[in-house]
Amino acid sequence: MILVTGGAGYIGSHYVLYERERGNEALVLDDLSLGHREAVLDAPLIVADLSNEAVLDAVFRSYPIDAVVHFAALASVPESVAKPHRYYRHHVAHTITLLDAMRRHSIPYLVFSSSCATYGDPQYTPMDERHPQNPINPYGESKRICERMMQSFDEAYGLRYVSLRYFNASGADPEARIGESHDPETHLIPIVLQAANGKRRSVAVYGNDYATPDGTCIRDYVHVNDLAQAHALALDRLRAGGPSATYNVGSGTGHSVQDVIAACREVTGRQIPVEEAPRRAGDPPILVASSAKAEAELGWRPQYADLHTIVETAWRWEENRRF
Ligand SMILES: NC(=O)c1ccc[n+]([C@@H]2O[C@H](COP(=O)([O-])OP(=O)(O)OC[C@H]3O[C@@H](n4cnc5c(N)ncnc54)[C@H](O)[C@@H]3O)[C@@H](O)[C@H]2O)c1
Repeated sequence: MILVTGGAGYIGSHYVLYERERGNEALVLDDLSLGHREAVLDAPLIVADLSNEAVLDAVFRSYPIDAVVHFAALASVPESVAKPHRYYRHHVAHTITLLDAMRRHSIPYLVFSSSCATYGDPQYTPMDERHPQNPINPYGESKRICERMMQSFDEAYGLRYVSLRYFNASGADPEARIGESHDPETHLIPIVLQAANGKRRSVAVYGNDYATPDGTCIRDYVHVNDLAQAHALALDRLRAGGPSATYNVGSGTGHSVQDVIAACREVTGRQIPVEEAPRRAGDPPILVASSAKAEAELGWRPQYADLHTIVETAWRWEENRRF
């Protein structure tokens, strides 16, 4: 059985559904601070804070858990700059609490949500896993520290892990049973789609003078179900005796902010009002992954790599959302 921390959140809930659809049991632990009870569907849910050692001990004693997939975290880069104490506590302190409980209960496998933010400003593109890690904000730094902690736990206690460095998670369950629901929403595709259906007045485009073909920032959008698949394959590999490892998970294709807005106009058939805004501090012009290592070693094959398909699934959710 898999314990999924943060399994009521956006990516975690899609992973739980993915595992359950391939016949595996997943138990969700989430304090619902940012997630949604409805996103778990009918999977078992323990509502608790990850920092609660007594709850972790009870969970590991009571259920036949052999693996943890750890999504629970905070995920706003600007907030991490303004309130670093929250990010170091949530990421570093809570992850050490989890790792230590796993050590006490001899739980052998961990799959961890890391981020391209651990790289900092790109020195080359597409970025592979050998790209230097020089994070430029507490969000990326705290994720990088978690990677180091897992490495030490592997060396000292044999706890095996896979760290997945996601690029921009996007899209939704193609059947629209679950999808993205953050408050406030900071991700581009849902923001653009909410401008399409009138929930927002317009979309702000932060900077149009970057050194990119249309002047707007380029990002790598990876479908949330493809991310779920990567976690499942990572866990399969660990359970089959594979070593600890780190993989980028991105589509390998960059799309500018203007490309995303154009794809949303095409999919929705709606006018989407746009406002030009100044650049935001800390936004690199281009972030694109090389996921060749995940493809070669995990056999990861994205099913929803095309931007149009990603936007279609997100729009279906946006039009039918229940939370
Ligand atoms: N969304 C992205 O594009 C992206 C990119 C890179 C990395 N990540 C990482 O992926 C993970 C999931 O991201 P998401 O977009 O699904 O975020 P999310 O906010 O939708 O989900 C996080 C979940 O964790 C839960 N949680 C937070 N703190 C908790 C605690 N102390 N105890 C128990 N539960 C707690 C929240 O209630 C929520 O359900 C995070 O670790 C994030 O840093 C996300």
